Amino acid sequence: MSKITAAITAVGAYVPEFVLTNAMLENMVETNDEWITTRTGIKERRILKAEGKGTSFLAIKAAQNLIQKASLDPATIDLVIVATATPDMKAASTASYTSTQIGATNAFSYDMDSACSSFLFGMSTAASYIESGRYKKILLIGADKMSSIVNYKDRATCIIFGDGAGAVLLEATEDESIGIKDSILKSDGSGRHYLHMKAGGSLKPASVETVLNKEHFAYQEGQAVFKFAVKGMADVSAELLERNQLTGDDIAWLVPHQANLRIIDATANRMGLDKEKVMINIQKYGNTTAATLPLCLWDWESQLKKGDNIVLAAFGGGFTWGATLLTWGYDSK
Ligand code: UT7
Repeated sequence: MSKITAAITAVGAYVPEFVLTNAMLENMVETNDEWITTRTGIKERRILKAEGKGTSFLAIKAAQNLIQKASLDPATIDLVIVATATPDMKAASTASYTSTQIGATNAFSYDMDSACSSFLFGMSTAASYIESGRYKKILLIGADKMSSIVNYKDRATCIIFGDGAGAVLLEATEDESIGIKDSILKSDGSGRHYLHMKAGGSLKPASVETVLNKEHFAYQEGQAVFKFAVKGMADVSAELLERNQLTGDDIAWLVPHQANLRIIDATANRMGLDKEKVMINIQKYGNTTAATLPLCLWDWESQLKKGDNIVLAAFGGGFTWGATLLTWGYDSK
């Protein structure tokens, strides 16, 4: 019997219409376009302005885009995973609402949160289910409404984040030349104080005091995270190539988490990759947390060819980080 692998067979995404530019931020906090551009590479980000709409709105739109593009019958999906750090609400999963809204009537569903690495970790979970033979079709969505946890008076974070969602369909295949080949995934909880939300969890439940202290917003010590991220993402990406006996020449594309252009450049350099092989859309969307990787795949889908070796790499709060090697399975339709 041939081995089953998991391959990406379709991509979808959604970004809200409202564009928050660096010039607009200059009127909100003490910052400037030159600082943001040179320190991060970001020019603008998308924000979900609609009242009463949470991360599920983004996730549903991305899934519907995929379903429509791929002419997929949602009733054939076995599992829906929503990777997110900003679920609609605690305790009722965003994934179960999303799967019902998109007509995935035969799927079970759940959320996964490992901050900016959620989508990468979710891909590994989905691939393992498929490789085991247990499920055949898994919809993995990375979606975050970061504007719901960003303090637009804090220049250290409000210039970075944006809202968006992307989705991939992972399917079982017996074609061993394509699909997910290998992953290195890591976590280190000693880093959790550098990037987190201080209150609203079981450790420090919401109270008048926590709200007044603005502890329900994302908090980041940028420099500490930066140092860890540069080393973490570059190390695992290089190690992944080495253990698969590959060099930068064998890789068609690097799909890096879009947190900072300087972190992306450092990772590409360690892998020996030319800049033309690196997917970069941070200038348009900023850091959309769990959505950065599928938003890249969506933007570059028309350029991807069957047989392309692709490395996806991420780094996030927790700390969490990792890299995955896959071979692309289809030419653009
Ligand atoms: O996605 C999850 C993982 N997250 C990351 O990977 C993010 C990693 N960190 C970063 O990308 C960077 O650390 C930042 C972009 C967040 C910050 O860049 P930095 O080069 O590390 O700047 P810094 O925090 O060291 O600040 C340098 C200076 C400070 O001023 P002084 O003390 O040198 O006078 C800051 O107060 O820049 C100041 N500064 C700003 N100036 C203008 C901080 N934020 C701003 C701002 N505009 N928005």
